[in-house]
Amino acid sequence: MFEAIQKQPADKILALMQAFREDPRADKIDLGVGVYKNAEGMTPIMRAIKSAEKQLWEAETTKSYTGLAGDPGFSDAMISLVLGDAVPRANVAAAATPGGTGAVRQAFDMAKMANPDVRVFVSNPTWPNHLSILKHMKIETVTYRYFDDETRGVDFDGMMADLAQAGKGDLVLLHGCCHNPTGANLNLTQWQEVIDLLLKTGATAMIDIAYQGFGDGLDEDAAATRMVAAALPETLIAASCSKNFGIYRERTGLLMAVAGDPGAQALNQGTLSYLNRQNFSFPPDHGARLVTMVLTDPALRADWAAELEEVRLSMLGLREQLAGELQRLSGSDRFGFLAQHRGMFSRLGTTPELVETLRAEFGIYMVGDSRMNIAGLNKTTVPILAEAIVKAGV
Ligand SMILES: Cc1ncc(COP(=O)(O)O)c(C=O)c1O
Repeated sequence: MFEAIQKQPADKILALMQAFREDPRADKIDLGVGVYKNAEGMTPIMRAIKSAEKQLWEAETTKSYTGLAGDPGFSDAMISLVLGDAVPRANVAAAATPGGTGAVRQAFDMAKMANPDVRVFVSNPTWPNHLSILKHMKIETVTYRYFDDETRGVDFDGMMADLAQAGKGDLVLLHGCCHNPTGANLNLTQWQEVIDLLLKTGATAMIDIAYQGFGDGLDEDAAATRMVAAALPETLIAASCSKNFGIYRERTGLLMAVAGDPGAQALNQGTLSYLNRQNFSFPPDHGARLVTMVLTDPALRADWAAELEEVRLSMLGLREQLAGELQRLSGSDRFGFLAQHRGMFSRLGTTPELVETLRAEFGIYMVGDSRMNIAGLNKTTVPILAEAIVKAGV
């Protein structure tokens, strides 16, 4: 029977990682894969996570099943991290999921349960997994304008014009902060305009927040998500703990459904548990438990927040250094956007041909759409990249 299945396209980023590994050049630079790397090129285990893991090993007495929605303590801690006190806790249904990807998938599933003809509006561009999951689920995707190739900022007028086409029964997917793959983000005034538009059209908002703490700070990065959740009658939020807790392989995420009242919350909670049951039953617990310990123990939390802040500032420093080097070498301000972008990624905004030139001639690996992982750089490699960008004629 399996011969009837068509061959699936290879994951482009994984193929790029493979090509990087096989490249013999010693001075090659990997800006491809989306994991945080420190100046030594390592993706370290955060100190607070390591301490929590030691404590957990001592204290944990059973590995029996948790609830279908995961440990309620994890939901409480994450709801508070993401939403602060923007909405009453009683209005929020939540379920732990395998990573942020699991939350995204369950959110689409819930939207499809609510409306089998749901259309999901996604930014152009968006994280490729959004598109491939939607395609796999046979959900109609509508792209809205987002990245302005000229300014390398947000094409806000285009975005608003396209979002005006979404109506009741549609889902509008927004990146809560640190847009992947572009690094270009809305300001809070623009977010308010998006909220007003959604209120007018009746479309439902879905926020994917995978980089809280990587952009402008923990609360700052959640500000837009909180505004949306507080203003709209219903919001889906997919949160990932992979990046900001550095627990990529533990597969830790949370799907939140924010409703206007506790009655709707009860219905949503049942739906989220039901969906977990259908797709994988109980969600993974190890990472969720570590996150809960870190967020609820004041000393661990302070240490985690301090380390996350170091990570954030190091990426910001690299952005500023790169924009400065490019300004010096090119004699123009046209790369200033690199310092304005936030999060781990920036879209350089160049052609696939020049991306290939950077790889073939300079050993610089970035995704074909010119997405660079800023965390793949360090103080020494920034000038090398800047020189290559200018020499390649970007
Ligand atoms: C935009 C976005 N959403 C969600 C995720 C989810 O990541 P994970 O499933 O590893 O938690 C990522 C990770 O790359 C992402 O970039």
